[in-house]
Amino acid sequence: METSVTKATQLRSKRLILDPLTLADLDDIFRIARVEKSIEDFQYAASTPEDVRAWLEPSLENPLNLVWTIREQGAAIGLFDLCFEAEYSDIENGVCRVGYFLDHQVQGRGYATEALITVADWVFSSSGATRIEAGVTLPNKASWRSLEKAGFLRDKIIAGNWIWHGEVHDSAYYYLTDELFRRAQSCKA
Ligand SMILES: CC(C)(COP(=O)(O)OP(=O)(O)OC[C@H]1O[C@@H](n2cnc3c(N)ncnc32)[C@H](O)[C@@H]1OP(=O)(O)O)[C@@H](O)C(=O)NCCC(=O)NCCS
Repeated sequence: METSVTKATQLRSKRLILDPLTLADLDDIFRIARVEKSIEDFQYAASTPEDVRAWLEPSLENPLNLVWTIREQGAAIGLFDLCFEAEYSDIENGVCRVGYFLDHQVQGRGYATEALITVADWVFSSSGATRIEAGVTLPNKASWRSLEKAGFLRDKIIAGNWIWHGEVHDSAYYYLTDELFRRAQSCKA
């Protein structure tokens, strides 16, 4: 099935609001993205606000790349990126991939899992995509556990395909289908 990409809209969960990214958010995102432990494994830490602008501005014009600012009680605490282009599998249609990071000060509270569930619900109900994929480095247990807790399954591990700060890492690739997602959510209910 073809993905009919739609515009990002505001998404809400119990504790979070995900607002479509605007230029007005860039300073807040820089404040988070300048700290290594808030962004490592997603992107290199930003040195200047211009780094963040150069990296995020193209998404504002790209209908295949939807980005949300994650907020908790009104404050920006992270970013969620959704791209309707395959990269982690050879499936071309109906697939998208996700990436995310959170301010290190709010990590460990289950927010990534909550954001993943919220975006997955929106993807499957509003975008026409039938499969979500994610790639993480294997040592990033916080990230792949968040995926698993949202219902994602591990597809494969590729040894030594990710070089980060000069070190070689193995990557784990995860996927979620509409059916897997509904099953995971109904088990929790
Ligand atoms: C990855 C990230 C988004 C996870 O967000 P989070 O909200 O802190 O994650 P959660 O609180 O939902 O925790 C998820 C799971 O990871 C576990 N976890 C958290 N930190 C961990 C750590 N340092 N080592 C091992 N496990 C960890 C939690 O215990 C939880 O699993 P459990 O419920 O089985 O105990 C966050 O750590 C982050 O922003 N990291 C930097 C950027 C990044 O790595 N992005 C992902 C790129 S693919």
